[in-house]
Amino acid sequence: SNDEIDFSKGVFMEEGNKLVPFKSQLTTPLYVYSKKRLLTNFLNYKKSFQREITHKFGIDTNISYSIKANFNPSILKLFHQNGCWASLVNKNELLLAQKIGIKGENLIFNGNGKKLIEIELAIKNKCFLNIDSWFNLNDTIKIAKKLRQNESLKSCFPVRLLLRINQNENANVHQYLNTSGDECKFGIRDDQIDELINIIKANDFVQLSGFHSHLGSTIKTLDIYNECVKNLIQLINSTIEKHNIETIELINFGGGLGINYEKFASRTSMSSKPEIEFPTPSDLAKVIAAHVTKLKNLNVKIVVEPGRSLVGDSCILLTKLLGLKKNGNKNFLVVDSSMCECIRPCLYSAYHHIEYLEPLSSTNELFDIVGPVCESGDFLGKDRLLQIPKNLNDNHVYLAIMDVGAYCSSMALNYNIHTKPAEVFIEEIHDTNEKITKNEYFLTRNPESLEDVMACFTEF
Ligand code: LLP
Repeated sequence: SNDEIDFSKGVFMEEGNKLVPFKSQLTTPLYVYSKKRLLTNFLNYKKSFQREITHKFGIDTNISYSIKANFNPSILKLFHQNGCWASLVNKNELLLAQKIGIKGENLIFNGNGKKLIEIELAIKNKCFLNIDSWFNLNDTIKIAKKLRQNESLKSCFPVRLLLRINQNENANVHQYLNTSGDECKFGIRDDQIDELINIIKANDFVQLSGFHSHLGSTIKTLDIYNECVKNLIQLINSTIEKHNIETIELINFGGGLGINYEKFASRTSMSSKPEIEFPTPSDLAKVIAAHVTKLKNLNVKIVVEPGRSLVGDSCILLTKLLGLKKNGNKNFLVVDSSMCECIRPCLYSAYHHIEYLEPLSSTNELFDIVGPVCESGDFLGKDRLLQIPKNLNDNHVYLAIMDVGAYCSSMALNYNIHTKPAEVFIEEIHDTNEKITKNEYFLTRNPESLEDVMACFTEF
């Protein structure tokens, strides 16, 4: 049909790397991922931590992908094949990680509201359990007591616990993305640590295996992060000494590294904005490395659990232009994707760069790029300088919403009975000399159908 995707110039995802023309039975909106970018991002993290911490100080490091950023199993599989751990927040993420084949010992179960059944599953799978509160510890001890009666579960004990410390810092990010300080529901504050450790010590079937802190998300500079690493290490040293704890196994410094969503905007000739340097995984590793030697016990693993910075820039949302309209002085480009596929602009006033796939030869004007959802919050971009499309008759004017790999597909909505889009991976196929021969597309998620959405309703 006329809705099938057909453009001739190719998707741009990586700078200087235009991808082959793309014709498909699939329709827009469509998430298009670069498999190469995903792998590069992961290996960059892994190698940076090995170089800055493991090789310099002999301290084991692991990257633990925060599944919440994007739960596409193909992503998880790719990371897992390269030695990635996973950080989870509930039973479903645990079951997914298990299905991919990640061992329980390489899973960190976070979350401020765990159900008893989730704690049970985490114990049975030998995950690290991140203790977020007094009641979370209490529930864990209750379940552990019950399960240890079972002879066949003997190897699951002692249960390995981490304490999530809520440091009194502010990540200096959007209020919804800050996860530390008194205003936040996460973790335990300094004044509760002793009580929780005493409870852990009184029960030999659980053990304090380490500490966790996660400052917040979309972090643009590492100064506060640096403070937090320093403070956490100090706190760990003093706590270990005070409680006579001989050894801990792991410290998890959380995720949170931002990505430069505005990089494409600042690179255009029209932009007056200087390009901001964002901290890289290597910078992050260096910040941690600067403090780890102060640890009293060096026989510990260092873990970070990034989400966005592993997957954010790996994906574009392809969308088709439906039409052009004007209300007063305001120009709108109406496209076929919406807040349902990319809710971040509406929720956090987030910027996602938007460009035409094929440049149009015409003059520029300011546009709001909006979707078809019945809400004024349904916008993808505001006041963007874009070319005025001339010929809409061919029904094949496409735009790309950039950097939608994190928290877009995983936060997609069925509002207005929008069906969730298909997802494709673009993979470079190499010939025997390792020269790129071609790019191939493969489907990694089928488009959702009306039947899929309605499947659980009893009268459909
Ligand atoms: N660890 C913990 C305990 C977290 O809560 C999070 C994210 C991460 C790691 C991963 O953070 P990242 O590296 O992705 O920044 N929906 C929001 C982001 C919510 C982040 C939630 N926690 C967004 O679209 O920006």
